[in-house]
Amino acid sequence: MMFHQPTETLQQKPRCLLHHRPSTSTSCSMRRPTSCHLTLLLLLLLLLLNFCRGQGSDSGDGRPSCDRCDLHLSCNCSHSGFTHIPVVTDRALTIDLSYNAIASVMDDDLTGHTRLRVLDLHGNGLATIHPSAFDSLWSLEELDLSDNQLAVLDHQWFRKLESLLQLNLLNNPYSCLGSPPPFQGLVQLRRLAFGGPTLEELKRGDLSGVTQLEELTVHANNLTRYESGTLADIWPLGRVTLSLHGPFLTNMPVASAVLGDVSYPETPITLEDLNMTETSSVQPLTALAKKRIRHLSFRNLSVSDKAIVSLLVAVSGVPITYLSMDGVTLIGQGSWRNASKTDQKSIDEFFARDVVVLDVFKFLSLLDLTFLLQYPRRVSVINSKVFVMPCITSKLLVHLQYLDLSDNLLTDLTLVETLCGNQETLKELRVLNISGNPLKSLSTVSRMVTKLSKLTHLDVSRTAYISMPPSCPWPSTLRHLNISGTQLTTTTPCLPATLEVLDLSNNNLRSFTQRLPVLRELYLSGNKFLSFPPGQLFPNLQTLMIHSNTLNMFSHLDLQSFRRLESLQAGQNKFVCTCDFVNFLHSALKGHEGIHLTDGEDSYVCDSPLYLQGEPVGRVHLSTVICHRVLFVSVTCGLVLVVGFLLGVLLWRLHAFWYLKMTWAWLKAKHSSRRRQRHRVIEGSEALLSFDAFVSYSERDAGWVENFLVPELEEPSESDSGDPRTLRSLTLCLHKRDFLPGHWIVDNIMSAMERSRRTIFILSENFVQSDWCRYELDFSHFRLFDGHAGGEAAILILLEPLSKDDVPKRFYKLRKLMSSTTYLEWPQEEERRPEFWRSLRSALSGGNEDD
Ligand SMILES: *[C@@H]1O[C@H](CO)[C@@H](O)[C@H](O)[C@H]1NC(C)=O
Ligand SMILES: *[C@@H]1O[C@H](CO)[C@@H](O)[C@H](O)[C@H]1NC(C)=O
Ligand SMILES: *[C@@H]1O[C@H](CO)[C@@H](O)[C@H](O)[C@H]1NC(C)=O
Ligand SMILES: *[C@@H]1O[C@H](CO)[C@@H](O)[C@H](O)[C@H]1NC(C)=O
Repeated sequence: MMFHQPTETLQQKPRCLLHHRPSTSTSCSMRRPTSCHLTLLLLLLLLLLNFCRGQGSDSGDGRPSCDRCDLHLSCNCSHSGFTHIPVVTDRALTIDLSYNAIASVMDDDLTGHTRLRVLDLHGNGLATIHPSAFDSLWSLEELDLSDNQLAVLDHQWFRKLESLLQLNLLNNPYSCLGSPPPFQGLVQLRRLAFGGPTLEELKRGDLSGVTQLEELTVHANNLTRYESGTLADIWPLGRVTLSLHGPFLTNMPVASAVLGDVSYPETPITLEDLNMTETSSVQPLTALAKKRIRHLSFRNLSVSDKAIVSLLVAVSGVPITYLSMDGVTLIGQGSWRNASKTDQKSIDEFFARDVVVLDVFKFLSLLDLTFLLQYPRRVSVINSKVFVMPCITSKLLVHLQYLDLSDNLLTDLTLVETLCGNQETLKELRVLNISGNPLKSLSTVSRMVTKLSKLTHLDVSRTAYISMPPSCPWPSTLRHLNISGTQLTTTTPCLPATLEVLDLSNNNLRSFTQRLPVLRELYLSGNKFLSFPPGQLFPNLQTLMIHSNTLNMFSHLDLQSFRRLESLQAGQNKFVCTCDFVNFLHSALKGHEGIHLTDGEDSYVCDSPLYLQGEPVGRVHLSTVICHRVLFVSVTCGLVLVVGFLLGVLLWRLHAFWYLKMTWAWLKAKHSSRRRQRHRVIEGSEALLSFDAFVSYSERDAGWVENFLVPELEEPSESDSGDPRTLRSLTLCLHKRDFLPGHWIVDNIMSAMERSRRTIFILSENFVQSDWCRYELDFSHFRLFDGHAGGEAAILILLEPLSKDDVPKRFYKLRKLMSSTTYLEWPQEEERRPEFWRSLRSALSGGNEDD
């Protein structure tokens, strides 16, 4: 920031020297410095500049930045209070810096902007621009420096702007264009605007380099010196706008000279800010008349009756076809009769807008103006508080084809007068525009215009219509009807079937169901439509505008019903961004629906769901999960079910449930077994072996156990043998008999096994099928390895022949046991049974002896 100050002063000094502009200058004629001096000064300047640049790189770091650039690289940095040119992306095509407080442009402020097309510095109070500030703007096409404080124009600013098409230098406090001529290098220049309240002098050569222009604007309200021919070399010359307020009042030769230099038959001329009250003040216009100009416009004109008469006299016989007055104050009473002998035959179009009649009550009707009114084919009197055009005046307008009385004060009653009630009038009229008048009755208009047998366009927009009559007469020629901006809530068959263009926008319509077979364009924007109108009613519709309604969505089907539709604007609605709509709109934006969405992608914005609010539909991408939710959920559920089922099958095949159940049961039982042991340790008692053997068997083998095993082991018959030792009665633990009721079965099994010396497994097909048996088996197996019991804790009895291979694989413990432990087989033959019992007894007591 700090470095800007010295740079400015450094710049200012050499610039003033260079131009040798005396501060009290009354003349811009240059006292050129000698070329020797100039070279020296230039060298000095360059040196200084280099010095400044060295420091400038520092100052660049402190520059503010502006990144309000849109998709088209147009950066809007206006009204932001910048005091220096901000840093903007090099890729920017347009930079709008208007209405800031940028007082100076440094040499490196805009370096790198080689692609910039438009630079707007309007309204900044800009006082200094470095001579090479614009040097890198090779592509610049539009430069606006208007409304600043540039007191001197420097030709060096423009020397590299070879692409410049448009330059605006209006309203800066320079008094002359300076020397050397500033525009010399601008070979492409087509639109030039210069001048301001302080412009005093224009000399021949000031505009050298400017050869042809589409548009020239000169504000020279204070011009005092004009060298004839200064503007004469520009040709072809398009539209010219001149403000010559001062010269017209005080320096008519200057005004005449300027007008004479820019007048060509094909050049439309607009004169601004004139104040013509005296007959003489019209005099410079004879310069225009001489050049036989065709288009003459006044803007911001104050004019008296006298001056109007002189004006009409001045242009009498001149082939002016178009006369326009935009912003006129009429000082007078409309007594223009003195001009009735003039020739105004050529006037084809008369345009007046914003006419103020100062003395409206004294103003005469335009009755005596036959000489003026019988020729024009087009008349517009807009926004001029016209409350009636008397029938007599209407009748004068015999050639009138186009009448625009929009934005006036016509009512239904005065409209009847204007169109002469039932009498014939305006027979040639094709276009009637009574838009923006306080009209209330559509049926009155329709009745009045029926007789206009050539009427094709009727504009009754922005009137006060509330409703439509059920039916209305219309001229059969009517093709265009504009009823926009009223307060209609419904439509009726009042609308003529001949319509090709119908504008019903900005009403309160919710639906539209009139059949219009030849309709080409339908405007329904700004209403309350929730859906498209049925396309079958408009078989020839090509353009449909339905933006700014309350549509939630529209679809392929909606568009399909319009067979001829080509362009559509349906943006700015309350779109619900469902998948169908988003997909449809993507395809429509790409033109795949055969329709051109002319309002552009950005107009289509989601209103809901909430998380998409404000998002342009074209940029929304909904995931498949959201778009195919039902499908997604069903597929997911299906998959989960299938996987679950497969897992279930797998687990079932692997007996996982059984293992789980068992492990859990075992853990639990083991825990309680530990507790019991601890308990015993505390009490100091030995493990209490209450049983000789725990018998593990399947319920199905209970018969055998009860009938054979228990009697044999628990109550041995005395007669069997004399040996008391072998015939000792053994105590068996049977779950049926010895388990404590109310305890959990696994606990019971566990404690039973703990309290038994041995475990006898009665193996059979039944056993193999019983889970509990298997559990007992497993537990005993654990015990085998726990070391609580000896290796022979388990005794296997095979009730039926059962080979290891008959045992299912999952009983791998049993299989293991069968291969490691010898087992006893229950003989089917009676004779061999005593031997079996003996073996069993010895197996049961064998461990006893070992202990
Ligand atoms: C118009 O020019 C005169 C000198 O010719 C000057 O005194 C006056 O201030 C100028 N008017 C404006 C508005 O600059
Ligand atoms: C209209 O012209 C007058 C001079 O006749 C001028 O003072 C005034 O500022 C102009 N108004 C506008 C809006 O340009
Ligand atoms: C009627 O005038 C209004 C406002 O001046 C304008 O917008 C509209 O285009 C005109 N209509 C026709 C048909 O010229
Ligand atoms: C209908 O009138 C309105 C307001 O005057 C205007 O903006 C609009 O362009 C007109 N419509 C057509 C189709 O000309």
